[in-house]
Amino acid sequence: MSTVTASGRRNIGKPVVFFDTTLRDGEQSPGSSLNASEKLEIAHQLARLGVDVIEAGFPASSPGDFDAVRTIAREVKGPVICGLARCVEQDIRTCWDAIKDAERPRIHTFVSTSDIHLKHQMRASREEVIALTKKMVELAASLCPGDVEFSAMDATRSEVDFLATVLQTAIEAGATTINVPDTVGYTLPTEYAALMDSLYEKAPGLKDVVVSVHCHNDLGLAVANSLAAVERGATQVEVAVNGLGERAGNAALEEIAMALVTRADILQRPCRLNTTEIFRTSRMVSSYTGQMVQANKAIVGKNAFAHESGIHQDGLLKERSTYEIMHAKDIGLTESDIVLGKHSGRHALRTHLAELGIHLEGKDLDLAFQRFKEIADRKKEVTTADLEALVGEEIREREDVYSLDHFYVAAGSEIISSGQVGVRTEGKPQAGKAFSGGSVESVFLAIDDAVGVSGRLMDYQVRSITSGKDSLGEVRVVVEVDGKRYAGQAVSIDVLEASAKAYVRALNNHARGREAGGARGDRVYL
Ligand code: KIV
Ligand code: ZN
Repeated sequence: MSTVTASGRRNIGKPVVFFDTTLRDGEQSPGSSLNASEKLEIAHQLARLGVDVIEAGFPASSPGDFDAVRTIAREVKGPVICGLARCVEQDIRTCWDAIKDAERPRIHTFVSTSDIHLKHQMRASREEVIALTKKMVELAASLCPGDVEFSAMDATRSEVDFLATVLQTAIEAGATTINVPDTVGYTLPTEYAALMDSLYEKAPGLKDVVVSVHCHNDLGLAVANSLAAVERGATQVEVAVNGLGERAGNAALEEIAMALVTRADILQRPCRLNTTEIFRTSRMVSSYTGQMVQANKAIVGKNAFAHESGIHQDGLLKERSTYEIMHAKDIGLTESDIVLGKHSGRHALRTHLAELGIHLEGKDLDLAFQRFKEIADRKKEVTTADLEALVGEEIREREDVYSLDHFYVAAGSEIISSGQVGVRTEGKPQAGKAFSGGSVESVFLAIDDAVGVSGRLMDYQVRSITSGKDSLGEVRVVVEVDGKRYAGQAVSIDVLEASAKAYVRALNNHARGREAGGARGDRVYL
């Protein structure tokens, strides 16, 4: 039940429900590609972060998405596990099959309500949309009683009386959460706040359900819009880690969370997330999706807590609050995180991984220990960031078709570079070699030669995981094969090795038909 103050503000003091859609809308980011184990790991991390709802995917969009959602529903405890479905009977039944084993399942169904969508996309009348909403929400509520979310797609460009009628219909049909998406990132904060006020007035059932907002960032206003709606009473925010999502992305989880915490004096809506898990979650999502975080990104960017100017540094030394509104440690960013060295044993590795929330046993622990030893032999100190990167590697390796056995490169300023590789294709060894103008190119061409695929390199990025000359290097590539793009990422102390592994991973994604996100045709409508 929503409460209203004299100034018209609703729900003061009520915690904001965090609905995370990194694995669904976030996964639609161009260039992202997550396999099932990566999705599961991210879901476990989101649970540690304390999100209330995980939107795990769109089960009817592909068999792969169905399996990933079902695994998350079965294995991740704590948050509500939600699947997306169009207002289509088969989608809703498929969604239910994927989520029904969750501790707390949710079906999230949606239909468009703007005239633009009705006329050009759905070719349906308003009456048909109302009838469809009633029928499909009733179906969803019969399968998943007590937890059905309904979204009015393109709500912010919909005629408000019609929108209110559709929302009230969904509530009467059994929806328990009503979402008002700014699907195309068009609205302004003042407009969105006014829309909330008007909907609370025109759809009386809203005061008894969870009112949710889902904002896209096309004009860079997703977080501002979400907060404007929260100030007018919205009880749930739909967010993605690092602001991932369709086109310019969704509202960034970390930005909304830290705004609620830092400006609690004005917003007065508690955030129940364990904010010290924010940085780790951001790093994991960036590493697994292959989407780097820009250095000046709020909260989780490399520079977000760095003070460069002398005046700022002087102020900080005198009194931290002169230039800092948040503590880095509040998002889990610690200055010294050196954890292990080359003499550390299997038990120490296991214990440190468990502290990071990563529980490995048996063969998985053996593999991780072997990788740890290889790195510790070549690097003095192994940090938390290194450990996370290393475990990410193990997770990826489990599903690979191709794996890099070895590589050699001869390169220099006055010779033609040559590369030789050994690649295993489902265990079978294959060799390849090539000559070219540069060392990286010669390795990539040698891999093409070994596996018999011709990839075109579309993007290549290198970054160091920590500082220091002995830092692990992370390489991300996007490779085009037969007109389709595949992403790959890998970490190694040697950037040439990381390059070769990242390239092999992109070819693995090709072999498994996992195109870089946004190109999988997930966006299907009525
Ligand atoms: O942006 C949007 O409208 C969506 C819906 C499916 C909620 O992602
Ligand atoms: Zn969206």
